[in-house]
Amino acid sequence: MINYKALGLVNTREMFKKAMEGGYAVPAYNFNNMEQLQAIISACVETKSPVILQVSKGARNYANKTLLRYMAEGAVQYSKELGYQIPIALHLDHGDSFELCKDSIDMGFSSVMIDGSHLPYEENVAITRKVVEYAHQFDVTVEGELGVLAGIEDEVSAEKSTYTRPEEVEDFVSKTGVDSLAISIGTSHGANKFKPEMCTRNEEGILIPPPLRFDILEEVEKRLPGFPIVLHGSSSVPQHLVKTINKYGGNLKDAIGIPEEQLRKAAKSAVCKINIDSDGRLAMTAAIRKYLAEHPDVFDPRKYLGPAREALKELYKHKNINVLGSAGKA
Ligand code: G3H
Ligand code: 13P
Ligand code: ZN
Repeated sequence: MINYKALGLVNTREMFKKAMEGGYAVPAYNFNNMEQLQAIISACVETKSPVILQVSKGARNYANKTLLRYMAEGAVQYSKELGYQIPIALHLDHGDSFELCKDSIDMGFSSVMIDGSHLPYEENVAITRKVVEYAHQFDVTVEGELGVLAGIEDEVSAEKSTYTRPEEVEDFVSKTGVDSLAISIGTSHGANKFKPEMCTRNEEGILIPPPLRFDILEEVEKRLPGFPIVLHGSSSVPQHLVKTINKYGGNLKDAIGIPEEQLRKAAKSAVCKINIDSDGRLAMTAAIRKYLAEHPDVFDPRKYLGPAREALKELYKHKNINVLGSAGKA
């Protein structure tokens, strides 16, 4: 049993309290490899932003759970070495069982999500309560979820979304004791969040997706004053990245994300954590495709992973400064 505090990590309680008071959101970026972790930490140190490092079940399967845990421990030292100690939480993203949450807590995670959103309400309450009871013994914070997000990823998939029912949130939070709540207000996982026919076009012909359901968010805020809310599926799917990918041999169709203004607005509300993974995947893929297309003779991975890491870092800095408002808050 390793306690996260011994690793220099923090849980999300203090982070969210400050984010709520300061009207910004803490970035939650997923990582699966060293270049992603380097980009996240260097971007957050340079912008003096707190950060939540997210590890999904898919990431554990891909990279090995022990290796990822040691990498997060290394991230704390790396931050110091870069000259500024930012608050870093290590979070299990979309935990789907008590055992997975317990295993993560036991190996040094400071925060876990138990995602029972696809379960019948009472089962979601029961499994979430069980995780909270275990986690709180070690001062590990827990994120629960009500409402289902659409989208398909390696380990997260749902065909149809169901908005969060505000009338359930008080009961869920009081019965489970969760520290934060992910809600479904129109975001979704992956790079194809909206079908083109769901969107309108502006004067320049750019597709504008339907707005998020801020009315649901406001109703949740009224029922849970001062309680930290989480938004999953919050990539913006920058069109210049999609164009670069497609220009250099990719074939991404109808890739549409959440407009940045919508996320800026959400970050000023009770939304204290915004999850972004797909945009990082797009940034890396665009940079690698471009580099390899322009340098067909290169076979040293550092040569193409280096620019990909740099592109990722710039993307994260932009999010912290211009979208989430977390820059300067560490
Ligand atoms: O919400 C899911 C995250 O983007 C993680 O995706 O399960 O493919 O690692 P993954
Ligand atoms: P995106 O697919 O929009 O990046 O969402 C990531 C996420 O919600 C991770 O939990
Ligand atoms: Zn998610």
